[in-house]
Amino acid sequence: MIKERFTRVGFILAASGSAVGLGNIWKFPYIAGDNGGGVFVLVYLFTIAFIGISVFIAESYIGYKTSQNSVSAFETLAPENKNIWKFGGFTFVTALAILSFYVIVIGWLFQYVVLSFIHLPASVAEAESIFMTLLTQDISSQIFYFIIAFAIIAYTVSKGVKSGIERINKILMPTLILILLGLLAYSLSFQSFFDAFSFMFYPNFEKFHTESILVAVGHAFFTLSIGMAVIITYSASMSQKTDIVKSSVIVALLDTVIALIAGLVIFTILFNAGYESSQGAGLVFITLPALFYEFGFVGNILAISFFISLAFAGITSAVSILEPGVRYIEETKNINRKQSTYVISSIIAIVGIFALLSNTSSYAELLTIGSKNIFDWFDYLSSAILLPLGGIITAIFVGFIVDQNQLKTLLLNYMSNSVYKVWLFSIRYLVPFGVGIVMIEKIGLI
Ligand code: PFF
Repeated sequence: MIKERFTRVGFILAASGSAVGLGNIWKFPYIAGDNGGGVFVLVYLFTIAFIGISVFIAESYIGYKTSQNSVSAFETLAPENKNIWKFGGFTFVTALAILSFYVIVIGWLFQYVVLSFIHLPASVAEAESIFMTLLTQDISSQIFYFIIAFAIIAYTVSKGVKSGIERINKILMPTLILILLGLLAYSLSFQSFFDAFSFMFYPNFEKFHTESILVAVGHAFFTLSIGMAVIITYSASMSQKTDIVKSSVIVALLDTVIALIAGLVIFTILFNAGYESSQGAGLVFITLPALFYEFGFVGNILAISFFISLAFAGITSAVSILEPGVRYIEETKNINRKQSTYVISSIIAIVGIFALLSNTSSYAELLTIGSKNIFDWFDYLSSAILLPLGGIITAIFVGFIVDQNQLKTLLLNYMSNSVYKVWLFSIRYLVPFGVGIVMIEKIGLI
């Protein structure tokens, strides 16, 4: 049984801390750029509203109703078929797979905070060489920063829901929001802000292609932290007074607004320097540092703020990714939270180091399987297959398996009957079919 619970604000901060992560600041702007800006944003907003929030509410329901770790929660809500449905709770394995590469990126961010103090690259070519050297040659400092990042994350989780998770989110989330608002205010002083604004919000339907929908759905799951037992686990510790619908909508809104702000800031800087919108994954670690350099001393401050905000966003997400596995071991294997945190963290850290090494030239060959190295496999398997699969399982579970009367009675406290019908339709049909198609399409793209 759950010993500690979040306060109401604490839950919203922790769940938004989970949702707002590298996905918002690093990934969203470049996929929006690659997919034509405004059209993508429109499709994305639609996806968040109809698929993302629906699954988020479903996961919150599972946690809220049971106050248990995700595996026991599935068992409790499907007493007749618990041996099958408990696998729905094991989707936290996806979270752990994500954690192994997510922390590597947080480690790079720590390194870039340090770099922003001492030396910004003077050109994109130099920036590229710095990043590629770090990625492919510099094993020791990558491991060093990886371990620091992991230690912070594990320590936080080991401290528990209130003194660990709630506390770190209460500090990092407001700081992150303030930094981003500061960067947004600064961007407003540039002419290119208006270009960035119209790029993000003017839907140019000529650029519309069906693939944008697939990318949007995949990203909606990643960005809202759904499909891998994270929201189920956090919700298991929410106060029983929480309005699970309202809190889901607030978290999704905050997540979306922060992604849009990050996009506006990044595109303003990019367009100001005459760059194209689609810069791919190298945007944050290659293009932006070189552009920050152009601003002189202000550039260092911008770079430091930018990378700190990314690192903060990453840490609060990583904490939430570790929690479901720890909670499961703690509750079912009868070992305390500290021990379970350190057991799981050590295993994932070792796996993570293999993923890290797979990017380096010395080990790339050894740690590449087929067309991808281990790092890329984890990224691919989790976001293309496991995450959507977790979402589909959760949706079918809540839509058909759990006691429908109890579900309806609880949710009608927080939504009208007609909204409930739309939500149920989405959970029963839209999510399984829509997300299923996305998955099939992505697997076909191997
Ligand atoms: N939502 C986080 C982001 O957008 O970066 C990432 C994430 C958090 C993924 C929690 C998975 C997860 F379980």
